[in-house]
Formats: sequence, C-alpha cells, structure tokens
Amino acid sequence: MLRPSCHVWSTRATSPGDDEDSSVGQMSDFERDVVHLVRLSLGGKVDDVAALARRLLRVIADRRPDLAEAAQTILRTASASPARALEPQPLPVDLDSRLELLRREPTPHLPIEPIWPPAVRKELEAVLHERERIDRLVDAGIAPTRSLLFVGPPGVGKTLAARWLAVQLRRPLLTLDLAAVMSSFLGRTGNNIRVVLDFARRAPAVLLLDEFDAIAKRRDDATEVGELKRLVTVLLQAVDDWPEAGVLIAATNHPELLDPAVWRRFDRIVDFPPPSVQGIRDLVVRLVGDKGISKPNLDILAALLHGRSFDNVVRVVTSAKRAAIVRQVQFSETIAEVLGELAQSADLEVKLRVASELTTAGRSQREISALTGLSRDTIRKHLGGSKTRRPVGNHKEAQE
Ligand SMILES: Nc1ncnc2c1ncn2[C@@H]1O[C@H](COP(=O)(O)OP(=O)(O)O)[C@@H](O)[C@H]1O
Ligand SMILES: [Mg+2]
Repeated sequence: MLRPSCHVWSTRATSPGDDEDSSVGQMSDFERDVVHLVRLSLGGKVDDVAALARRLLRVIADRRPDLAEAAQTILRTASASPARALEPQPLPVDLDSRLELLRREPTPHLPIEPIWPPAVRKELEAVLHERERIDRLVDAGIAPTRSLLFVGPPGVGKTLAARWLAVQLRRPLLTLDLAAVMSSFLGRTGNNIRVVLDFARRAPAVLLLDEFDAIAKRRDDATEVGELKRLVTVLLQAVDDWPEAGVLIAATNHPELLDPAVWRRFDRIVDFPPPSVQGIRDLVVRLVGDKGISKPNLDILAALLHGRSFDNVVRVVTSAKRAAIVRQVQFSETIAEVLGELAQSADLEVKLRVASELTTAGRSQREISALTGLSRDTIRKHLGGSKTRRPVGNHKEAQE
C-alpha cells in the first residue's frame, strides 16, 4: 500500500485557516493540492505525485465516484509501486524491419568527465538551475527551458552535453539519430518520426534529436519536397509544444543548413566552440593525470593542438598512451614522438621548441630531424650544445 512520503505532506500540509501563502490565500485545500501536484510532476517527483493524486482522489470520491474509480484504476494498474507507472515502455519500432527507432540509455554513461568552455557551462547550468527552482517558475506561470539547439563543429561535445544533462537531471536519454532515419525510405520516415515524438513526449526523459540538419540536407530532392515539408512541420510543432516536464535537444554540425525560422523555435541556443588552449591543457591533464606529462610538453602539445576539436585531442593522447603500453616505453617517449609529428606542419618557432624538448628527452639530432622536418643544420644552429643542457621540467612522466 502506498504511503504518502513525508515530503508531500510536510511542505503543503493544510490545516483549517492555513493561509501562510498569500498568493493562494483564497484557495481551498483541494485547489492548493492541485497546484502542488503540478509543481511535483514538473519536478519529476514520481512517488510524491502518486501519493498526492491518491489523496485528491479520496476527496473527490464522494462527489464523482466514477472519476475517482477511473483514476484509481490508472494508479492501480501502474502496480504497487508508482514508479512502475513510468517504467520503460517498449521502444517504438519500424513496422517493416521491426528495428527500434530510438536508442534508450536508462542511465547514460559519460565516456569522460567533460571540460566545458565557460559559455557552454553557463548555459547548461542555467538549465539545471531552472529545474531545481521549478516551483518558483510554476508560481510565476513561466515555463522552464524545454527545448535546446546545440550548434558547433563535429567533436566539440554536443552529444556529450545531452548525455551530461540527462545524468545531471537523473533522466534516461532517448536518442533519435536523424541521419540514420532519413536514409530510409522517406514515406515511412515521416511516420516513424511521428511515432518517436509521441513516445518521447510521454516519457520522463531527455530526447536528443542528433544530426538535426539531416532533414534539411534532403531538401534538394525534388520528388520528396512535399513529404519533407510535412516532416519539418511535425518536428517544429514538437519543438513548439514540447511538454514542460520534458527536455528536447536538437544537435547540428551544420547550422547554416537550418532555416532561421527553425532557430527561433528553440528556447535556448547553445554554441559549442572548439577548445581554447587552456581547455586543451585541462583535457590532457584529465586524460593523463597532472603527473602524467611535463609542463613544457603540455604547453607545446596544447599549442600544437589548438584549433582541433576535443574529440581530436582525446584521440591524439589516447593513441600515445596506447603506444606506450604496447611498446612498454614511457608515455613521455611516445608523446614526444607525437609532438614531433604534429610539429611537421607547425611554424619554425614551435618546431624549435619541440626539437628542444626532444633533445632533452635524449633523442639524437637525426631522430629529431626526422620527427620535426627540421634540417640537422638548423637543429645544430639553434640547439647546438644542448646535449649538455639541463632538462626542462619534470621528465619522469608516468607510463600510465
Ligand atoms: N567538452 C568536452 N570535454 C571532454 N571531452 C570531450 C568534450 N567534447 C567532446 N569530447 C570528446 O569527444 C568525443 C566526441 O564528442 P561528441 O559530444 O560526440 O561531439 P559532437 O556531438 O559535438 O560531434 C567525446 O566522446 C569525448 O571523448
Ligand atoms: Mg554528436
């Protein structure tokens, strides 16, 4: 038997003459509970919602036994635990292939604890704060952010951010990869997308429409223009009236393909820039630990990787870690090689910094020349006698 949780009753317990909240001063206990029910459901407090709903049903049972019975049945069929009412429903499938149309991650996994550029962090945290203070927004009659558009080049954390938000909000993540859906026969695509949106609208989840521009990309095919237009309308309608309890995120690498009218529909647009030099440094340290790489190497690496995506930085560092393990050498050695390779396309000043690091790491001038593309003459001229130089920084890098 369901017992109302303390939370429900302690925050809104009503007693005759209880008028501590002036904005609801004229309300009956029942009306007050209805307002509270709204507040709880938007906050995603499933157990409390069910407990309060039962209490309200008892109140109306005398006057409207039919209504009360119908609602009780809903709560009962949700079985003994109210949380079960929201237990995963089977995912919608394509009618022909029977393949699932959505990917569901009940507790999304973060491949790495993200490093957010300050502007991105500000936007994402604002969304979280709104949900934490949902009762204030409800009281003021203002909806929280329901729809977000994530914009930026590939590999800068758009998908990661959707995952991160779902983790922070303790909600499952539903992902619809529009690029994949759009590649199938369009007539069915439209229906599939409708089914998916319908399903996601009712789920207490974060919905990610990934590769959102895939829809726009199909625009050039004249034979499908009509169906595509309908599809875009369906999607935009969904963005417009997405329920307040839900969060819909669309992500795109090609914002230029989206109509300005599309942009306007979203509550919030978040621009994802490539990492700054500091962002790259933070990411490398997160990947190898702060004793994992010497400061000079970290500086050079960050300078060489500036302009690349977070994804690219992860790949470069991970492959050096992998090589160190396989070859049973220090990470400092494989990362020095990576620096040399990256330096091939860098300017002279950066090349010389790398050459200096390789020298202190004990590499011969021939090796350095091969790695950086600098002539041995240039190396000798600029770093001549450097064999006797004291090594810069800490070269006892962890092998990891
Ligand atoms: N802000 C970030 N912090 C740490 N790693 C990141 C970040 N952004 C991206 N990455 C790395 O790049 C990979 C791909 O990122 P993803 O979110 O899929 O990029 P996008 O969706 O923008 O193309 C992630 O799995 C992660 O390893
Ligand atoms: Mg992505």
